[in-house]
Amino acid sequence: MDKLIPIRLGFVLIAILLLGPFACSSDKYQNIKPVSTDSCSTTNLSYAADIRPILEAKCDNCHSDANSGSGGGIVLDNYNAVKALGSSIQNRVSLPNNDGSFMPKGGSSIGTCKIDKISAWINQGSNP
Ligand code: HEC
Repeated sequence: MDKLIPIRLGFVLIAILLLGPFACSSDKYQNIKPVSTDSCSTTNLSYAADIRPILEAKCDNCHSDANSGSGGGIVLDNYNAVKALGSSIQNRVSLPNNDGSFMPKGGSSIGTCKIDKISAWINQGSNP
């Protein structure tokens, strides 16, 4: 019987090593630097404070005035353009990333927090 103890301990250790990274996987998201200081709030959103920082970080490299050649000529660096394309933006970022229309193109999802902000901003009337 006693001989089994080290074996059992070995199993426990292996289980900890295998499961440990999953137990802490939510930390990965906490380590991503938020673009806005109030992380996931969806109240009183404005283009300037909440939406521009998201697009600047994730979309400007293809959709700013200077870089729009990489973004099919579509510019998303000003209020009027983003307001006009709001629902298209919302749709594209909500697609699964293996969908040909997924945005950011070739990148990874901006995440539910930012997607929720874009949706809420539109629902609140796309305030500047
Ligand atoms: C690597 C370059 C690249 C990045 C980064 C990128 N896009 Fe795009 N985007 C494109 C290209 C190219 C097109 C045109 C082809 C198409 O429609 O898929 C496009 C098209 C779009 C359209 C369609 C506009 C319309 O006329 O309906 C939207 C909306 C859009 N992108 C939103 C975004 C958003 C939001 C981000 C950031 C989260 C983003 N894109 C990041 C390259 C990019």
